Amino acid sequence: RNAPAPVTVEPVSTAPPAPELFTWEFATDPYPAYAWLREHSPVHRTRLPSGVEAWLVTRYGDAKQALADQRLSKNPANHAGSAHAKGKTGIPGERSADLMTHLLNIDPPDHTRLRRLVSKAFTPRTVAEFAPRVQELTDQLIDRFEGRGSADLIHEFAFPLPIYAICDLLGVPREDQDDFRDWAGMMIRHGGGPRGGVARSVKKMRNYLAELIHRKREDLGEDLISNLIRASDHGEHLTENEAAAMAFILLFAGFETTVNLIGNGVYALLRNPGQRGRLQEALAGGDTELLATGVEELLRYDGPVELATWRYATEALTLGGQEIGEGDPVLVVLAAADRDPERFQDPDSLDLSRRDNQHLGYGHGIHYCLGAPLARLEAQTALATLLTRLPDLRLAVESDDLRWRGGLIMRGLRTLPVEFGSV
Ligand code: HEM
Repeated sequence: RNAPAPVTVEPVSTAPPAPELFTWEFATDPYPAYAWLREHSPVHRTRLPSGVEAWLVTRYGDAKQALADQRLSKNPANHAGSAHAKGKTGIPGERSADLMTHLLNIDPPDHTRLRRLVSKAFTPRTVAEFAPRVQELTDQLIDRFEGRGSADLIHEFAFPLPIYAICDLLGVPREDQDDFRDWAGMMIRHGGGPRGGVARSVKKMRNYLAELIHRKREDLGEDLISNLIRASDHGEHLTENEAAAMAFILLFAGFETTVNLIGNGVYALLRNPGQRGRLQEALAGGDTELLATGVEELLRYDGPVELATWRYATEALTLGGQEIGEGDPVLVVLAAADRDPERFQDPDSLDLSRRDNQHLGYGHGIHYCLGAPLARLEAQTALATLLTRLPDLRLAVESDDLRWRGGLIMRGLRTLPVEFGSV
């Protein structure tokens, strides 16, 4: 008799299927997808909505290593498809050739030289001296909506605060700052490409900055642009073009990030009433320690920079056991790394007093955020003032009705409608 034909049984996979990335659900809550990637495909090749293929690095250890790896270049010319790669740091309009030579697009030794020069002009002291002005700006913005009982905290608070702050710091005269606010608003709303209104706004801003730098050169003041012009290192100075690119990147790196740190931060606090109550109590008692650790935790928990800006492999290399080809783009997913259970205890919980919190929200290595002291100052001032002046602040809509911007690099809310007082 014939033996029955052998039956081959396919092994049943118990792993849930790979999540879809870059959908609307993903923009609303990317963390379940990042948990899947960390576990099943920690260095993951994907096709981005733009059609470009890139590697996503999602585990904390790999992410930290990648951020410090000098074989991963910031210069878009190192992308295998470099014709498409120009302006891939996610900064709208940066294809304008003369703004390309900024810190996030260059490697050592140019990066080292420019960073040293800007560090001389933009010091922790510059930021500390600026604290009273940030407090004044914060109070003025709250004054405008306090009596109304409701506000959109993105448009009326989180958005204007950093733009006025950075304009003041750079030395943009007050009467010109509303123009800046409008240009920046255009870029944040329609970011991602040099077309139409965005291109016009970038051009206006670039021309304005070039002219401002020219004027300041004739008449140096105490502002950051004057200090950039003044800064020298072994007899080297920034060229006018480098100074314009530097002012532009300070504006860009320091603007939407801070908007989203305040927006995501307030939202996280409103969703975690126990933590928010502890912070309010501490503030009422004059204790600012929880505010300091709390802002760091808000950065880890739902920080504004979801993915670090683009990097390109200058040679074939292995990362997290995965072979990466020469010229491949590598995107370090800071938001995924900062929820890695291998590194953080109970990573999906918000714990404002978290101590062991070396998050990657400001990056790591030579491109570590230059503006971190300013970002901390702005976020701490904004949150403390808001919670103190509007102690019963609450969401005016259901969380499900909030919309997130679907950008690749940044994570932030489009609007944040709130109510307060007895309306
Ligand atoms: C770089 C985050 C605010 C200026 C970076 C990087 C991150 C980051 C992750 C590294 C990107 C990479 O390696 O690809 C943030 C966050 C902020 C913030 C989360 C606010 C909450 C600011 C502010 C300024 C600023 C206020 C300046 C006014 C810069 C600059 C770089 C940078 C100039 C480039 C440094 C370099 O390449 O050497 N930031 N940033 N940032 N940031 Fe920030």
